[in-house]
Amino acid sequence: MPLATEERLIAESENALAPNPAEGKTPQELADIVTRFAASDGWIDRVRLRTENRWYERLYLGTDYDVWAISWMPAQSTGFHDHGDSSGAFVVATGVLEEHRPGAAPIEITPGRPRAFGQHYAHDVRNASLGPAVSIHAYSPPLTEMNEYDLVGSELVSREQASARAESLAKERHQRKPPQSTRASNIDLMLAEARDRLRRLSPSAAFDAMAHSQAILVDIRPEVQRAQEGNIPGALIVERNVLEWRFDPKSEARLQIATSYDLQIIVFCSEGYTSSLAAAALQELGLWRATDIEGGFQGWLTAGLPTSQHIPHQP
Ligand SMILES: [Fe+2]
Repeated sequence: MPLATEERLIAESENALAPNPAEGKTPQELADIVTRFAASDGWIDRVRLRTENRWYERLYLGTDYDVWAISWMPAQSTGFHDHGDSSGAFVVATGVLEEHRPGAAPIEITPGRPRAFGQHYAHDVRNASLGPAVSIHAYSPPLTEMNEYDLVGSELVSREQASARAESLAKERHQRKPPQSTRASNIDLMLAEARDRLRRLSPSAAFDAMAHSQAILVDIRPEVQRAQEGNIPGALIVERNVLEWRFDPKSEARLQIATSYDLQIIVFCSEGYTSSLAAAALQELGLWRATDIEGGFQGWLTAGLPTSQHIPHQP
């Protein structure tokens, strides 16, 4: 959705017909903004992961609202806080987060399900999953103040009222318990859980990503299946049983190219089922951009994209 890029947001702010800054954005409008932004690629090359703290960057600052991207490694959290006089909204772009509020059950937040709130709304957002997550946030008026709280019993007690600039997002106040595994109890749930964290690509989108960016197509099918079905030219063959060892940058058995957690890895299998589990496993290793192709090799064939019978050397 190119109309949801940062450029569009900036253009909107420069438009003489832009809303009166004094009016601000409603929570629903902010939810629409973060949803459109997360669905675009305006954030994907900006995000970095940091093991010591959550990473964040303000992507846009206008007169009436601002937009942030935040990355979350497993177990990273905000602690309880509010956003002062700003209303806000956020959405998960990839991965899974949890929102905690006093006296309420935690809410699992998956891509495409924005949360919106008014002024003085307090919450604690956590990455309780085993993989990284990226979220997009918007605030109106632009974020200038955050107040932090401790949970005492079921009550939030203000830690300090000192005004803080938005950079205080980076401060980590709480150590949380180790993440709990949320393994599904059967394969359908496991697959749905894996796909909740993926931004899956159509075959043509995967083709474009390979042709025009640094994306790496990875064929995880067994040899016998490749021989029967054919191949995708330019795809790297890494069979499923060694996948994690080949792409973990810390693995002694890694591929030469596997030096960064920022690699854009696009996995495919025959029909796009095993590949979803494999991509989710790569995300759990920290390869946050890992995803797969809808329909797998068969979907690629149906889309009329290039194939060959040539069997490349397996690394
Ligand atoms: Fe927040």
